[in-house]
Amino acid sequence: VAKALTPPDIVARKGQAPLVCLTAYTTPVARIADRHCDVVLVGDSVGMVLHGLDSTLGVTLDMMVMHGKAVRRGIEHALMVVDMPFGSYEEGPAQAFRSAARLMAETGCGAVKLEGGEAIADTIRFLTARGIPVMAHVGLTPQAVNVFGGYKVQGLGDSAARILADAQAVAEAGAFSVVIEKVAEPLARAITTKLAVPTIGIGASADCDGQILVVDDMLGMFTQFQPKFVKRYAELGVAADAAMAAYAKEVRERSFPGMEHVYTGPAKAPSP
Ligand code: KIV
Ligand code: NA
Repeated sequence: VAKALTPPDIVARKGQAPLVCLTAYTTPVARIADRHCDVVLVGDSVGMVLHGLDSTLGVTLDMMVMHGKAVRRGIEHALMVVDMPFGSYEEGPAQAFRSAARLMAETGCGAVKLEGGEAIADTIRFLTARGIPVMAHVGLTPQAVNVFGGYKVQGLGDSAARILADAQAVAEAGAFSVVIEKVAEPLARAITTKLAVPTIGIGASADCDGQILVVDDMLGMFTQFQPKFVKRYAELGVAADAAMAAYAKEVRERSFPGMEHVYTGPAKAPSP
């Protein structure tokens, strides 16, 4: 069994072959992702993708622990990262450490991810100094959707300088990589050039050091939202709809189950 990738392995990939990253929330999907990815993220997107929440704000630490444990059972090679959910780290470094330590101890992940820039840099410094590798996340940070007033592209005007400062602050605080979400492409490229650690883009730039997508988005399984940055590599939702329609039809016309799906036991049925 190959040794799983570590945060230093990820840092060493700066300027090398692009880092391939996907989310996963369950063991079977994690097993497939692990065959192809350098990083598997248990994203708090799980709340929207698997639990039907309309934002990530309702995701709890318990949910992240449960999905983290499931994903861990499917991972051998990739670095597994677990998102810190809204409300589990923003009060300060001590709260963040408690939450992150629980995630690492109970799920066996190799790192945690949290959202924010300069405002969260002290917390990142505190965690990394105490044994918790941190992936940062700047640009459009979905846990701040109410502050942004929607899932809008970031970094188009004056906010570009702030996002660059955020990325530099979290990298300087010790983050081993930085997710850049839904920012203008030239800004994502500029941040990638300036940082010594890898950037991982989602709606960012092909020049980022890696890319990430929500797995249910790229498989065509989650279709409630379709941001421009999602490329659908499969249409599993359409395939599932067709499969269920075929099943329903066969049950209604009694052509399922067929003889090959039933157990032919004693030749004689018991008499009533
Ligand atoms: O929760 C998530 O899926 C994420 C990725 C989109 C980066 O944070
Ligand atoms: Na997330």
